[in-house]
Amino acid sequence: MSASTQPWLDAGKPIEERVAGLLSAMTREEKVAQMVQISYSIITPERADEWARLGVGSVLHCLGDDARRIQRLATGNRLGIPVLFGIDAIHGHGIHNGATVFPTQLALAASWNPANAERMAAVTAKEVAAEGLHWTFSPVLCLGRDPRWGRVDETFGEDPYLSGKMGAATVRGYQGESPASSDRIVACAKHYIAYGESTGGRDSYDSAVSMRMVRDVFLPPFEEAVKAGVHTVMAGYEPVDRVPCSAHRELLRDVLKGELGFKGFVVTDWMNVLSLHTRHKMAANLEEASRIALEAGNDMIMTTPEFYESTLALLARGEVAESQIDEAVTRILNIKFLAGLFDNPDKVKTLPLSEDPAAKDAEAVYNCEAHRKENLEIARECLVLLKNGTVGGSPALPIAGQKPATAEGGASAGRRVRRIAVIGPNADSVRAQFGDWTFFTHPTPHYDAVPTFRVDTMLDGLKKLAGERGVGVIYEKGCDATDPSVQWIAKARKAAKKADAVFVFVGDTLPQTGEAHDRANLELTGMQNELVEALSADCRKRGVPLVSVLVNGKPLEFGRVAEASDAVVETFNSGTHGGIAAAEAIFGAFNPSGRLPISFPRTTGQIPVYYNQIPGWHEGKYHDCDRTPLFAFGEGLSYTEFRYDSVSLSKDAARAGETVLVNVTLTNAGDREGTETVQVYAADLLASIVTPVKELKAFARVTVPAGATVTVGVPLPTDSLSLVGIDGRRVLEPGEFAILAGHDSRDQSLLSARLTVTAG
Ligand code: BGC
Repeated sequence: MSASTQPWLDAGKPIEERVAGLLSAMTREEKVAQMVQISYSIITPERADEWARLGVGSVLHCLGDDARRIQRLATGNRLGIPVLFGIDAIHGHGIHNGATVFPTQLALAASWNPANAERMAAVTAKEVAAEGLHWTFSPVLCLGRDPRWGRVDETFGEDPYLSGKMGAATVRGYQGESPASSDRIVACAKHYIAYGESTGGRDSYDSAVSMRMVRDVFLPPFEEAVKAGVHTVMAGYEPVDRVPCSAHRELLRDVLKGELGFKGFVVTDWMNVLSLHTRHKMAANLEEASRIALEAGNDMIMTTPEFYESTLALLARGEVAESQIDEAVTRILNIKFLAGLFDNPDKVKTLPLSEDPAAKDAEAVYNCEAHRKENLEIARECLVLLKNGTVGGSPALPIAGQKPATAEGGASAGRRVRRIAVIGPNADSVRAQFGDWTFFTHPTPHYDAVPTFRVDTMLDGLKKLAGERGVGVIYEKGCDATDPSVQWIAKARKAAKKADAVFVFVGDTLPQTGEAHDRANLELTGMQNELVEALSADCRKRGVPLVSVLVNGKPLEFGRVAEASDAVVETFNSGTHGGIAAAEAIFGAFNPSGRLPISFPRTTGQIPVYYNQIPGWHEGKYHDCDRTPLFAFGEGLSYTEFRYDSVSLSKDAARAGETVLVNVTLTNAGDREGTETVQVYAADLLASIVTPVKELKAFARVTVPAGATVTVGVPLPTDSLSLVGIDGRRVLEPGEFAILAGHDSRDQSLLSARLTVTAG
């Protein structure tokens, strides 16, 4: 094949021309096949090969030699259009046992540092690309506003602004300047839209939200991703106000492709087209489902292979216009060209691994030293210190050993200990630490899988750091994470009594989290509360600290744990080196700086507890529950103390299009350097609709030396104060706004200034 007979192979021509040239050479069958995405996990290899020969557009969940074989078959076809391989590399290329497993999105969001998301995505892109795959179904831009939902761990938390910033950075990390580079891949913003808002936290169930709410609350993170150049978007499973996303013409065609100007392609979620017939009962048969999906604006159809025959039949009868197919295929081919599939030989791996001289280099990329280092650095910033009380007159954390810390290990100040007890079901659990979306759970669950690489569990991390500092470690599991009939609490208490500080690791484990694993009750399972309370009673008698370390996918009911513990550290699902990062924080080798990206309920019935609620609830609380969440959005401590001295604005009045500086004066009143995340919220004091009590509008991370006072100017564009009015249009209404700045979202943590937005 050459550029003379196949002019679209001429890399010197504009992509638009190349796409048009290729499209004009394609038969109907070849075009419709490009719209099909099959999953290697639910198909026989023979059937997958047949699809490759038919010129299937994309294959997902296919690794190694299987992918290479399929690519060989596809590129051997008449037109030789390469397959675009998709994979769920959600927090690292976790489905490949051996690749780097990063902290989950929720954990990453706790760093409030978009640079971490970009780094995570760049490393993931390298590892995915090394495998010969091109496209990850990430980032998730759904909001985690109901922790009963199984997929909250996949979100960047509850806030649209934070999610948008983290999401856009993730997109940049995957795609770089161009996904055609050998070490970059195509990103996918999902699940469009309001998927996390399903009633009752029920995965894929109805999201009973209006289009006004969609535009106001759920669209902004997707807008950020589109601005960052995301090349694909996945349509969610669920109906929005009773219309399934993949049947929602207004959402896909009018809003996404029209108003937002999204030029990439839309992929459905798993079997969304089939579901229009079988689950949602909107289509009498697959042909009707295919027609609805096409008209709504889906371009690639995930795992409804029947779409192929159905659409060809519809075309033959003239029931769908060929122009509709052309539009979808143009979008798909455009991304294939942009992703370098026609020009960069690195992107089209066809040789079996054993015959490919480059395969060895690729193998060396997974979890390599540089990636391990980046992973650990990121994991450190994701930890959130939620409580640090005093025991015997000094803070529970950090602890210090008998020996001074090594240069690498950092400061040695802290409570002197000789022996620590490490207890709890999640102290030595790779599964709990990894969470969802690794080889343990996908493409099919293998809970007994064994990692082929070194993972530092919490116990491993503490043993390492303790060893370096001359501290002894005793370990007892204490109880099972889920089964109340399996416990060794007496043994754990005995062990704990030999220690100068006790660390207990509790939370959740697989399969208590993830897709289709919603929970009706977020109480800690097994005998975890009983374990912590028993240890607490003993520790309090002996005057030694009890530190609870949370290893969990998402907020659970941690009230009893928090009450019983002197200190609490939240690690979420922290990935391969989470144990080292946690141990370093415990030993004070760095100063924790994470902030919660999500609020924690006291009890399941208190949900929703997200901070940006609207006013007007009679009494503002349940009769039988406290007013506040257990921990609020933005909370997080460090080993120093920050004091907010003042907040002022660079001007008191501003118009649309202008940016105001929110000047915050901040003192590090402690004796240790620390990093503070200055959070800026706004409240609209009078509006044409009911607006939230406050909404995050900006934030800035700033490192302040001990004893220093700094002034931080955080830019606040007035346009960010706009709302989506009753007519569904975004508008900046003139009037008064309270601009609040401080340590976290709670009223008592915020200082206030007044901004007038003037007309014109
Ligand atoms: C999930 C998506 C995922 C897809 C492919 C679906 O069930 O909702 O997030 O990308 O499967 O694995």
